[in-house]
Amino acid sequence: MFNPEISVKEPARTAGEHDEAKQGEALMLETSKGNGRKLYIESYGCAMNFSDSEIVASIMADMGFQTTQNHKEADVVFINTCSIRENAEQRVRNRLKEFGSAKKENPGMIVGVLGCMAERLKSKFLEEEKLVDVVVGPDAYRDLPNLIGKVDEGNREVNVLLSREETYADISPVRLNSNGITAFISIMRGCDNMCSFCVVPFTRGRERSRDPHSIVNEARALSAQGYREVTLLGQNVDSYKWQSHSGEEVSPSGGDLEGTGTVNFAQLLEMVAQVSPNLRVRFSTSHPKDITDEVLHTIAKYENICKYIHLPVQSGNSRVLELMNRTYDRKWYMERVDAIHRIIPECAISTDVIAGFCTETEEEHQETLSMMDYVKYDFAYMFMYSERPGTLAAKRYADDIPDEVKKRRLQEIVQRQQEHSHLRLLEQIGKIQKVLIEGYSKKSPNDFSGRSDQNATVVFPADKRFKPGQYVNVLAEHCTTATLIGRIID
Ligand code: SAH
Ligand code: SF4
Ligand code: F3S
Repeated sequence: MFNPEISVKEPARTAGEHDEAKQGEALMLETSKGNGRKLYIESYGCAMNFSDSEIVASIMADMGFQTTQNHKEADVVFINTCSIRENAEQRVRNRLKEFGSAKKENPGMIVGVLGCMAERLKSKFLEEEKLVDVVVGPDAYRDLPNLIGKVDEGNREVNVLLSREETYADISPVRLNSNGITAFISIMRGCDNMCSFCVVPFTRGRERSRDPHSIVNEARALSAQGYREVTLLGQNVDSYKWQSHSGEEVSPSGGDLEGTGTVNFAQLLEMVAQVSPNLRVRFSTSHPKDITDEVLHTIAKYENICKYIHLPVQSGNSRVLELMNRTYDRKWYMERVDAIHRIIPECAISTDVIAGFCTETEEEHQETLSMMDYVKYDFAYMFMYSERPGTLAAKRYADDIPDEVKKRRLQEIVQRQQEHSHLRLLEQIGKIQKVLIEGYSKKSPNDFSGRSDQNATVVFPADKRFKPGQYVNVLAEHCTTATLIGRIID
């Protein structure tokens, strides 16, 4: 069956939504103040949601909940949801039906809906889905102890208040399903851009940046625990801006930042890069209108900031970009790509593309393909336009491109991307890649798997002298459609 949403050569999860669920992402917590109750939590959508589930697990652990990988034995089942496209929501509805059967066998089970669908549908959820006991929006997780308490008393509860301040800065996330090597760090929440197709500003509220001290401290703690890579997360990391209220100095390193009361994204990147040369730094998502040369120079300056930028283009045509309210045009985007190549020549670039946005003509679609030819992206996430209730596009424009046309355009985009991904991998062959070993290959326990600086997956024979969490130099010798294959070079 044709999959309408395809990623070609999927890199690590970004702040973009990948419609994949990792079931039972839960850690067995042995808390001394355990209450004997068990939590099961399942996450959908973007990396921000997965990161939020780690905050939720932390709040629930403080209440004494142990986590379980099996929803059938859980006292509380949470589903952290995504609203980005209609089929993302449909997937959650289907999963809720399965939880419904489990609840029939275990009537005391509490079912909670968290995240973006909770925020979008609010109390409507309680009317539409009878099995749901509690609906909690992304800014209301601190209220969970109170809400669960009320549900225990027999009530059904909703808290979907959005906040202008909440960043959960002081909450130490419980790392779920962790490999102990790579971790996400949320640096901001919400989004102030009003891309006309997008539901995120409605489900996540206003943009706010997290205190840089708490970000650096989290990175330091991870590094001390043996983690070797952090990904800084935000819907638009380039607009990260933190203003110190007290006018205090912010630099933890005594470096260039002394005396400033504000921290921008380039400065934050630098602060995190200085935590340890052994801690790789990635980030997502960059916005073409906001990514500055200062950020690019910072990436170029630090060996441990990965040379990889996720720069969603959405469309290659300026008229469509304007309807999308992306606030850049084709020329601007190309200039930013040129700047990346100029300042960081070896940098990999990935993107998100939407096929069949309202009124898109065949010629405009061709411009998306020609933009792809111009950039030759290393990876891409590609989607058919899905109208979301309440968005600017839903209010202003007819969703007038027939499904078959959207599918065909998407297929053309996917095919072009496959060619480019392959081309980019071929360029790496014969070159030595610095790879962070993340574990063993899914296909063979005799092979290690890791990622290159440019975020390509690299597989190579395991060597007893090395173990996951270490960096190795790997000579790339050949490739499959999505993976580099090589061997360790001493
Ligand atoms: N903040 C990120 C994107 C987050 S959503 C950014 O600005 O790039 C991830 C991707 O989902 C978007 O880049 C877009 O390509 C896609 N997307 C968002 N809304 C969509 C919709 N209504 N239909 C289809 N794809 C959509
Ligand atoms: Fe959505 Fe645009 Fe914000 Fe990304 S930048 S989350 S696409 S509104
Ligand atoms: Fe992320 Fe989906 Fe919400 S992409 S921000 S979980 S709508």
